[in-house]
Amino acid sequence: MLVFFPLALAAVAAAQTLSPSVQHAKRTHLPAGWSRVRRHASDAVLPLRFGLTQPNTDMNTLEALLNDVSHPESPNYGMHWTPARVAEHFAPSDEAIHAVTSWIADNGLAKERVRVSKTKGWVMLNASVAETEALLNTEYHVFVHESSGKEHVACDEYNLPAHIIPHVAVVTPSIDFNAILTKRSSGTTSTHITIGQPGAGTVSPKLTTTISTILTELEDCDKQITPACLRALYGFVYTPLAAKKNSYGIVEYTPQAYRPADLDMFAKNFSSIGPSLVGSRPVLKSIDGGVVQNETASFGVNGESNLDLQYAMNLVTGYQNITLYQTGDLEMGASFNNLLDALDGSYCTFEGGDDPENDGIYPDTLPGGYQGDDCGTIKPANVISTSYGYDEASLSFAYSSRQCAEYAKLGLMGVTVLYSSGDNGVAGNDGCLTPDGSESEDGKIFNPSFPSTCPFVTSVGATQVNPGAQVTDPESACDQVIFSGGGFSNYFAIPDYQKGAVAAYLSANPPPYAATIYNSTGGSRAYPDISANGANYVVAVDNAFGLVYGTSASSPVVGAILTMVNDQRIFWGKKPIGFINPTIYSPAFKGAFNDITNGTNPGCGTVGFSAAKGYDPVTGLGTPNFPKLLALWLLLP
Ligand SMILES: *[C@@H]1O[C@H](CO)[C@@H](O)[C@H](O)[C@H]1NC(C)=O
Ligand SMILES: *[C@@H]1O[C@H](CO)[C@@H](O)[C@H](O)[C@H]1NC(C)=O
Ligand SMILES: *[C@@H]1O[C@H](CO)[C@@H](O)[C@H](O)[C@H]1NC(C)=O
Ligand SMILES: *[C@@H]1O[C@H](CO)[C@@H](O)[C@H](O)[C@H]1NC(C)=O
Ligand SMILES: *[C@@H]1O[C@H](CO)[C@@H](O)[C@H](O)[C@H]1NC(C)=O
Ligand SMILES: *[C@@H]1O[C@H](CO)[C@@H](O)[C@H](O)[C@H]1NC(C)=O
Repeated sequence: MLVFFPLALAAVAAAQTLSPSVQHAKRTHLPAGWSRVRRHASDAVLPLRFGLTQPNTDMNTLEALLNDVSHPESPNYGMHWTPARVAEHFAPSDEAIHAVTSWIADNGLAKERVRVSKTKGWVMLNASVAETEALLNTEYHVFVHESSGKEHVACDEYNLPAHIIPHVAVVTPSIDFNAILTKRSSGTTSTHITIGQPGAGTVSPKLTTTISTILTELEDCDKQITPACLRALYGFVYTPLAAKKNSYGIVEYTPQAYRPADLDMFAKNFSSIGPSLVGSRPVLKSIDGGVVQNETASFGVNGESNLDLQYAMNLVTGYQNITLYQTGDLEMGASFNNLLDALDGSYCTFEGGDDPENDGIYPDTLPGGYQGDDCGTIKPANVISTSYGYDEASLSFAYSSRQCAEYAKLGLMGVTVLYSSGDNGVAGNDGCLTPDGSESEDGKIFNPSFPSTCPFVTSVGATQVNPGAQVTDPESACDQVIFSGGGFSNYFAIPDYQKGAVAAYLSANPPPYAATIYNSTGGSRAYPDISANGANYVVAVDNAFGLVYGTSASSPVVGAILTMVNDQRIFWGKKPIGFINPTIYSPAFKGAFNDITNGTNPGCGTVGFSAAKGYDPVTGLGTPNFPKLLALWLLLP
């Protein structure tokens, strides 16, 4: 639909401003629980922000840049970029800043009212609703949340002149409506997704039962998974040689916190290679006021952190430190963007570069909130594992794309970014999709997980030792308590590295679902990439051992294995493995994974996809075979 500017404005504008107004973004539906109450007052002021397009961030360019340093056949393999080179390569152009600021001025808004952020990423302006509506050719409405009474201001769609479109990635506030209301301990509500809180967009591990006896024999790995079981399953026995030069980061979102007493309880019952881990703690890197809180204790707030750290610390041995990226203060909380701001100064602006609907906004103005804004404060670890995730549909395409590009930048810097693939099979945390794109418990359309669908992260699914089976038997896709998240993106196109693998899967195992149920074209990003056991983990939580399930467990285990691969490479003077996807899908690495060929990932009233020979969107390429992976990665430059 083309809409033209009102004549009065066009008459005073320079010729370029006459370019037709084109729809930039449109929301397909109103999220559940919200209703439209009125037009917003025309004299109300909106903190209008234009996020400028970063050059070179289209998916094809990013993929080409990443392949240059990550593809095993590239002459530049391992020649990762410095943060400064990344910042410079992706800084918005002066042309973009000029185009957007002149367009605003041409519309009669004084130049003095417009500010450009330090990093040149954002053009900002406080504008009245009337001014904004004229500028964006739209209408702003007030919406109310039925149960909480919380109000939210948004438009349904907005337009930009054609010549501005290439320069603007996102406009806020506009259509975004992913406000998930979260109850806080203080009783107040917040609109951004509090990724650290169970039930609010997280992939929470599941606890079934507490156990009184740990089974220590390998023949019991079908009943209880212990570090010894994982070492047996993946041939993972290794003593680090270059611990001081190596790093492995585990990400947790406050109020999630490990309990020191639980780490010790685990360390006492599961001895590690090398020095004892009793009394050992992860090295805390606090981001945006992140604290290992001890005000409340429950499986809900300790389960994820305890699981991730107990296994990661044991598996990388007592020689190798783990870094804990504890993100977000106790008041505001935080999201993936807040972590990314701290890891890469070029990603944030002095106002955070963040979206108030989805991210923590720092400095935090809530009572007791963190007064800083951590931006480029952390040198990223070589491997970073995160066991949290969103439903792709809960975030706008623009928001997800911007974040996805940032994962590519971390890859350019040589960082391996792992995310768990979700615990609901082909369904999401909030059910499945309906034809209008909303999420519902009654939905029938598969609901993929983000950031797993971003082609620039490595997504990790879950397997299990089948009941009654031995640790030497092939594992299956996990179907105890949780199902391995997997499927096809509705946002991101298929990256080159997995085209062959996905085409082979779809032709040998055509899924029995209509094209309306999932993106069946073979042209969209499939996930997960790899998998590891996710069932029956023995974890110490709040002074008791329990059995825990989830891709939440799989991701830190894969991270530990890759960290030990890095150790040996660093010992031999090589670079860390960085973004691994082009490597693990390459012909040379065929056979370096234990192919999982049994099981499915049910959801949305279906059995989901089937695991099969070769790649499948349930368990990816399979589980790691550590000796083979190590040998192959040592052959690379
Ligand atoms: C908008 O107004 C707020 C509150 O007065 C102020 O803090 C902020 O700096 C203003 N932004 C711009 C771009 O002028
Ligand atoms: C943990 O180890 C201690 C000491 O070996 C043992 O007494 C205890 O039973 C173990 N805990 C469990 C739950 O097996
Ligand atoms: C591990 O961290 C501790 C505390 O920061 C530090 O003293 C120690 O040197 C680190 N060890 C290694 C191997 O990096
Ligand atoms: C709880 O955490 C605070 C702040 O980190 C710390 O000072 C205190 O010692 C902790 N209390 C216990 C019982 O561990
Ligand atoms: C499937 O994904 C591809 C690649 O992202 C996209 O071009 C296509 O439009 C999608 N098809 C449907 C029906 O959504
Ligand atoms: C396949 O997995 C199911 C559990 O989903 C298990 O019961 C069955 O034994 C497995 N079959 C093989 C051949 O591994």
